Amino acid sequence: MKKILCGALSLLTATVFAVWQDDHLPEIFALNAEKLQPVTLAQDWTFREGMPEEGWQNTRAEGKTFRLKDNKIDLDTVAGKTGDLKSHAVLYCTITSPADGIAEIGIGCDWYFEAYVNGTLCATTMKDGNGDSTYQPSNHPFFIPVKRGENLLAIHTGRGSYTWSFACAKVPFRLPDVPEIAVGPWLDNPGPGRMTVRFTSLGNCGAGVEYRTKGSGTWLTAWDAVEELIQRRSFHTVELENLTHAAQYEYRIVMLDPAKPKNLVYPRKGEIYTFTAPDEKKERFSFLFTADLQFVPEKQNEIFPALLKAGGAETCDFILLGGDIGSSFSIDALLNTVWKLNAENGGSARPLVWIRGNHEFLGDTERYIECCGTPEGKTYGFFRFGSTAFLRLDSYALGNWKSDRAEYTLPAAFAAKQQAFVKQVMDSPAWKNAKHRIVLAHSAPFSVGGFEESITRMTASMIAPYYRDRKSDAPVALMLTGHTHTYTRTIPGTTQVAALVPPQTKAPCDGKNYPFPVVAGLGPEAETPFAASVFRVDVTPEKLTVQSFRPDGTCLEKFEIMNDGQVKEFLSLPHFDTVKK
Ligand SMILES: [Fe+2]
Repeated sequence: MKKILCGALSLLTATVFAVWQDDHLPEIFALNAEKLQPVTLAQDWTFREGMPEEGWQNTRAEGKTFRLKDNKIDLDTVAGKTGDLKSHAVLYCTITSPADGIAEIGIGCDWYFEAYVNGTLCATTMKDGNGDSTYQPSNHPFFIPVKRGENLLAIHTGRGSYTWSFACAKVPFRLPDVPEIAVGPWLDNPGPGRMTVRFTSLGNCGAGVEYRTKGSGTWLTAWDAVEELIQRRSFHTVELENLTHAAQYEYRIVMLDPAKPKNLVYPRKGEIYTFTAPDEKKERFSFLFTADLQFVPEKQNEIFPALLKAGGAETCDFILLGGDIGSSFSIDALLNTVWKLNAENGGSARPLVWIRGNHEFLGDTERYIECCGTPEGKTYGFFRFGSTAFLRLDSYALGNWKSDRAEYTLPAAFAAKQQAFVKQVMDSPAWKNAKHRIVLAHSAPFSVGGFEESITRMTASMIAPYYRDRKSDAPVALMLTGHTHTYTRTIPGTTQVAALVPPQTKAPCDGKNYPFPVVAGLGPEAETPFAASVFRVDVTPEKLTVQSFRPDGTCLEKFEIMNDGQVKEFLSLPHFDTVKK
């Protein structure tokens, strides 16, 4: 915390000097708009001409009464004359608060001010002036400590060269920008010689990653930049490239101090994290896949770590999220649940790849690519991990989905682009030469749960041309999906599924036409609102071993997929026919 305070102090000195916020940052960063006290500024202000007298901060002195109009005034009109650079005055206003707490106000002033509340210095521009010639309350927003009832706001101001414009009002809630990590870091997009690092900062800061092979002396720096412009923002994505295969790397986060951008700041006391660069020859590795975690935040906080534990995340090389990770793609909520929990459970050393589901089309959907996209800025992709090829598909959400947001989608154009990409993958040596091939999508390419939807058709249009009723020279071993919330594993060549309960049978299952198992995990249902499961896949040169677990660690089933496509069951579920009799 000490580091945060030091960083914050240097930040706040840009516009304010020695203010009480520095000692109250934990309290301030726990604030949101709802927690701010809804204070009221009295209409009548007092203007006391001249330099402040001793004790002016604590006691309201006599003076002229004036009112702001639209939160502004030219103090020359109150003084009754055109002043000059030697003009000074003290302004007083009563702020009424319903309870003890913190409020936020802002001041713009031509040219200097220092503001005290109940004798506590809260903001000052006495050193550098206003810095902005618009003179709006938003020029210098700052937090003030208030007590229940009346509070004294005392402002010392010095006039500018041309005017004595002054503005003061409550301002919309906004946290200060502090060069410190809020959530993360976590890794994404493992690939040959590359890795993505993601994290968030407290407010908008320029940020990057310093990295080096473990034990070497020289740090390389990669910035969160667009066209070589470091981005001042709070959600950061940094691409590390040209990594040495299988090498161990260490990295640390670096930020530009928003107040003094020439100063680099190392948040969390320069904590060093490590990861292993993907090894293209790796033949033995493990990963988890889960989807459909659209629970309330309290339940996500309970269920997601439980799934990581049940699947044995600590011995996995990466985690796959199969979409619908929340009722909507709400970044504020997800930062405090899935991303934070992942980072706290080994995410700084182990990639998390987030595939888009239909619920990621709700909320902050426009920011999905920024937060979860591939380095190419796509929602679909291809990556090799060791000897295994992964095709990441986007099932999209089309116009007939019930959300209004679906009206913003362009499904035909999207399908064409994704189909072109899939064809490139299918033609590539990286796909053809892989030891195993795995397809990932939110929706299966057919109706497993007994209902037909556009997202199944989108998936099918990607995968069916190459695999439906076809024998391929590049066979797929396994397809991992979600969306139905019903646990099923298709039995290739049959209309049967291994399942916990008989699946709905409103439509025939197309699984028999695909020569590989398609699995879908548990998700919330009316009768079982907190149902969830996770697949663990252990890859070896000979086979894929798949196990599925409930959050309590109960194993639902265990099976192996041999290189010839044969599936061997070790812990079996009942098989049900999906065709309506
Ligand atoms: Fe879904």
